[in-house]
Amino acid sequence: MDPSRAASFPFIPTESPPVVIDRTEGVWLIRDDGTRILDAGGGAIVSNIGHGRPEVVEAAARALGTIDYVLPVWTTENRVALVEELTEHWLPARFTRASFFCGGSESVDAAVRVARTHHLAAGRPERWKVIGRDVSYHGSTLSGLSVGNHDRRRAGFDPMLTDHPKSDWLDPESLAKVIEREDANTIAAFIGEPINGASAGAMVPPDGYWPAVEEVCRANDILLIVDEVMTGFGRTGLNWGHEHFGITPDIIVAGKGLSGGYTPMGGVYSTDAVVDPIAAAGMGMMYFTFSGADLGCAVSVEVLRIMREEGLVERSAVMGARLRQRLDEQLGGHPNVSDIRGLGLMQGLELVRDRETGEDFPRSVDFAAKAAAEAIKQGVWLYPCGSGPVSDALLIGPPFTITDEHNDLIVDGAKPTIDAAAASASV
Ligand SMILES: Cc1ncc(COP(=O)(O)O)c(C=O)c1O
Repeated sequence: MDPSRAASFPFIPTESPPVVIDRTEGVWLIRDDGTRILDAGGGAIVSNIGHGRPEVVEAAARALGTIDYVLPVWTTENRVALVEELTEHWLPARFTRASFFCGGSESVDAAVRVARTHHLAAGRPERWKVIGRDVSYHGSTLSGLSVGNHDRRRAGFDPMLTDHPKSDWLDPESLAKVIEREDANTIAAFIGEPINGASAGAMVPPDGYWPAVEEVCRANDILLIVDEVMTGFGRTGLNWGHEHFGITPDIIVAGKGLSGGYTPMGGVYSTDAVVDPIAAAGMGMMYFTFSGADLGCAVSVEVLRIMREEGLVERSAVMGARLRQRLDEQLGGHPNVSDIRGLGLMQGLELVRDRETGEDFPRSVDFAAKAAAEAIKQGVWLYPCGSGPVSDALLIGPPFTITDEHNDLIVDGAKPTIDAAAASASV
């Protein structure tokens, strides 16, 4: 594509035109000049079954050939089929309710409204606050930014955000203190990512963190919302990230892998105990015009069927462990890699200027973005991220169909990528 045409696409003009992708296939993104990029970031940690699956394309064509737009509160065969697929095969026991949206941010926004509406319906109007964590990401709507704390993404918006309380992201005792300070009777819910994604590059909290959080939420009638937008649908090697920690949430939010990236999708899932008081009070929830689009439901049913029939969640665990072993071998002592972490096919590299002292690169360098740009030169896409104390990190989250050969390409490309980024950062 002519670069001047490509340059017309970004809303805010950029120095160089965006990468142009002509085609996607398997684990590959194919550029307009024919060169291939290995999609080791699964786009934005979205692509789970790989690209270009004909079964999904056929399901999409069938759906669109039958139904285009139907009001979100009415139903269709595909909408019901998706609820059934989720309740029969994916959601934890007791999770009987599902509502669909166009992505993670919309779904987080809806989950916050569900929690608030639950308490209103139950006669507790003073409960409205949602406690978040001081390192977290819950999307870029103003409500997502309010309950989250991704400093780069919140920057400049603070005066517009609701001041929801934050607890320390890795210390459950901090949550109990925040509840005491705020008064439990004002708190509707706690929200957290089982494993931090975009905020902290696949940080797994210490043992005991999540069970302690669950306990303190239960003791104070605070709804526990797990934001599984990134960790859900097998990304961490189990259906849900929270399963690694043996906890039972009240509300789950998950998008991304639900449709494997084939259509915009997200969802909020919960128990009768959350929803029944809302129904009993005759209250409802306003939808978005495109919530639960029939096309997205049809595609998601097919993506989830492929995941089950091909054992892709188990494959995420197995291939993730192998990827991790190779990362440890190759990058374990790298001077700019301070930590390698994650579960399943959600792995993260924390990047620093000096591994010995833990010194970060200055924020102005935007080191993770620099490293991701270098990786593209090596033919690999890695997802740059980081906020707060994790200034720079790379997320590795390829499709679960990845092979050992692909893993080798990712790992072998990582060292020259980080070296080149570090050399250019020091100039
Ligand atoms: C944990 C989490 N929540 C919410 C979101 C927002 O989702 P979306 O970008 O689909 O709106 C993301 C996106 O990365 C996420 O990782």
